[in-house]
Amino acid sequence: MCGIVGYIGDGESLPVLLTGLKALEYRGYDSAGVAIFSRGAVKEKKSLGRINVLEAATKGGDFSGSTGIAHTRWATHGVPSEANAHPHRDCGRRVFVVHNGIIENYRELKEYLIGRGHKFLSETDTESVAHLIEDFLKDGRDFKDALFAALKMIKGAYALALVDSNDPEKLYAARLSSPLVVGVGAGEYFLASDPSALIGRTKDIIYLKDGEVAVVRRDNIEIVNFENVPTPYEIIKLEWNLEEAQKGKYPHFMLKEIFEGPEVVRAAFRGRINAKDGAVKLGGLELIPEKLKGIKRLVIAACGTSYYAGLIGEYFFEEIADIPVEVQFASEFRYRREPFDPGTAVLAVSQSGETADTLAALRKAKENGLLTLGIVNVVGSTIARETDAGIYNHAGPEIGVASTKAFLSQVTCLLLMALYLAKDKTGQSALLRELENIPGKIEKILAQAPLIEKLSEKYQDSQNFLFLGRRYNYPTALEGALKLKEVSYIHAEGCGAGEMKHGPLAMIGPDFPTLAIAPQNGISDKINSNLEEIKARRGPIVAIATENDESLGSLASDLIRVPATLEPLEPLLTVIPLQLFAYYAGVKKGYDVDKPRNLAKSVTVE
Ligand code: G6P
Repeated sequence: MCGIVGYIGDGESLPVLLTGLKALEYRGYDSAGVAIFSRGAVKEKKSLGRINVLEAATKGGDFSGSTGIAHTRWATHGVPSEANAHPHRDCGRRVFVVHNGIIENYRELKEYLIGRGHKFLSETDTESVAHLIEDFLKDGRDFKDALFAALKMIKGAYALALVDSNDPEKLYAARLSSPLVVGVGAGEYFLASDPSALIGRTKDIIYLKDGEVAVVRRDNIEIVNFENVPTPYEIIKLEWNLEEAQKGKYPHFMLKEIFEGPEVVRAAFRGRINAKDGAVKLGGLELIPEKLKGIKRLVIAACGTSYYAGLIGEYFFEEIADIPVEVQFASEFRYRREPFDPGTAVLAVSQSGETADTLAALRKAKENGLLTLGIVNVVGSTIARETDAGIYNHAGPEIGVASTKAFLSQVTCLLLMALYLAKDKTGQSALLRELENIPGKIEKILAQAPLIEKLSEKYQDSQNFLFLGRRYNYPTALEGALKLKEVSYIHAEGCGAGEMKHGPLAMIGPDFPTLAIAPQNGISDKINSNLEEIKARRGPIVAIATENDESLGSLASDLIRVPATLEPLEPLLTVIPLQLFAYYAGVKKGYDVDKPRNLAKSVTVE
């Protein structure tokens, strides 16, 4: 994946492009480039490595100009190199393009264009776009026409930002299956792969839809389809602020976002619950009451951390709303051939609202005539727009690649949705009253961060970790293992504690620690017996236990205490020590926990 930024306006483009690229670095950071257009001149710079290398390379040079495009690359076609870095251009240095996505038929296009005399400078799929447009320009078409003609020949997925260097008073953008937004400012417009790149510049965002082209001038915008017919668009207000997108006093976004846990849970239920009456109000679901009543079975489709939140949701919907649930990896659901009956609804859970597999799962559900619901954090994102109904997380921007606060907020939203759909409202008041106590309880756990840091230091040489939990804490264990893998690169496996003796127990020994989520609840005796089996094999145990519970003292080598709560709400507390443990493990190893190797925050390719 790659990140795109574009600017046209009265200001200087370079600072906008560089700060935007830095915000998009999570999408890829093996090379980067800019092209800036002014008074008939094009100033280009490309560099290998992260954005600060590009920034240093442009410092002191003349990069003035108020139209520009920029790109941070995550190599797919061709090694990371200056030649392969974007922007790419045609032979005549007229067409400049940055691209995110994959041009699937680029080989044929390249061969065809070489046959027509074009000279290619890179190994990328993207360069063919510039030459193809140039080829159509030779026919005497204007730029927009040439762009349409090219788009009709290109197969694949793309978000494109382009400039005709003969007319730098316009910025062009096109989208098909890769996200692209336009930011609307005063006398200026921005383009970006993701609205987080525009925080601090504008809150007014237009999400381009698949099959749309935008022609942007500094004082107006025209959005059309590939047939040049204007399409309606909406300007969405993003309530994100600059402070939320900066690390502030924290050394990493991941730590800051873990510490935002209490506020994130509060933000998810604020204005939506009345604990006294046991009532939940979800505006996003109110328009389709009859369809919601018709739900007989729910499929939750999601990826990564959102999938694990979905697994917790499965317990909520089954135990609170009495609706049978199946949670599927969106990447599996999209290719599975299963019979649907009309009472099935599909719930997509996605922080970014742009994950390609989750979007494909949603579209498949629609093709099958199923009701589609969403729990999405990014307002106006593709998944949010394409679902029939849904709710937003209101978690604010999540910048760390490894999801932490979004998980908490997803679990809270899943709970609210289950409570909302439940026909029998008995017991809801107690759950909601306790939900209101959760932020305060998370604070108490966060205050133990120094203890958790010490523990992660104690175990820093372990090569493997087993995470155990049961019921609501089983998916929490899976999420804890994922977090540790993502940011510390330590191998970790999550397992239902009862299942451990059917395999994972074989690995246990003095060098293989277990992180057990074992709060006191209806199933504590069972998990304690599972831990006995580990202790008997001399496996070290770090247990997450309820305050004042003495039953684990003899079993665990180390204890992390969490306040008591109702069982369905436990994951909102027990995941916090796991997130902190992973964070400190990664930091101790000297890794960039905000941008783990090989991973990206929103995976917009299959
Ligand atoms: C990537 C991220 C994960 C995230 C997953 C799903 O793998 O690194 O943190 O959980 O995508 O993303 P979504 O935006 O759909 O929740």
